Amino acid sequence: MKKSILLTILASICILADEKVLYPDGYRSWTHLKSSITKEHKINTFIGISHIYANDIAIKGLKTYRYKKGATFVLDHLDMNISKDSIKEGKRLFTGVMVYDPIKYSKTANWGFESFIGSSKTKRGVKDSILECFTCHTQVKKKNYVFSSFRE
Ligand code: HEC
Repeated sequence: MKKSILLTILASICILADEKVLYPDGYRSWTHLKSSITKEHKINTFIGISHIYANDIAIKGLKTYRYKKGATFVLDHLDMNISKDSIKEGKRLFTGVMVYDPIKYSKTANWGFESFIGSSKTKRGVKDSILECFTCHTQVKKKNYVFSSFRE
């Protein structure tokens, strides 16, 4: 009896650990979708320069709003250095990730959300992905929770 309880606990830990969104290695070589500058925002951390990238599986989904497992978007968010005549990239503030997996992330419409702090590949910023990420992305439920669109 005790052994089976232990095994159940171990199995749950494995499932939980497995739900973690992986750091999107190599995303700077993926398709660049767009860049934007946010000058003001009620959420302070959104102020800065952001570049959005999509892997090949995500690019296919963008055209139909239907995604396959492994589709990944990255929001690379940088500080901005403002001078009299230009706005240039500053240090990286966070790397936001959305990855599609119907088995792991069914609670958040099949999307796993995570943010990696600064340039770290291991320091995670999200504690509650429903509150911190998913709720706002439900604004674009019709586009399968993705704000970005495909353009040539
Ligand atoms: C207040 C609303 C809001 C919250 C909260 C939010 N996002 Fe977003 N997210 C956006 C908007 C708006 C865009 C499109 C940005 C643009 O057009 O430059 C976006 C874009 C993205 C993208 C690129 C794919 C897409 O949808 O275009 C990723 C990845 C992303 N967000 C991850 C996250 C993660 C991870 C969190 C939680 C830490 C989060 N977001 C929280 C509004 C939000």
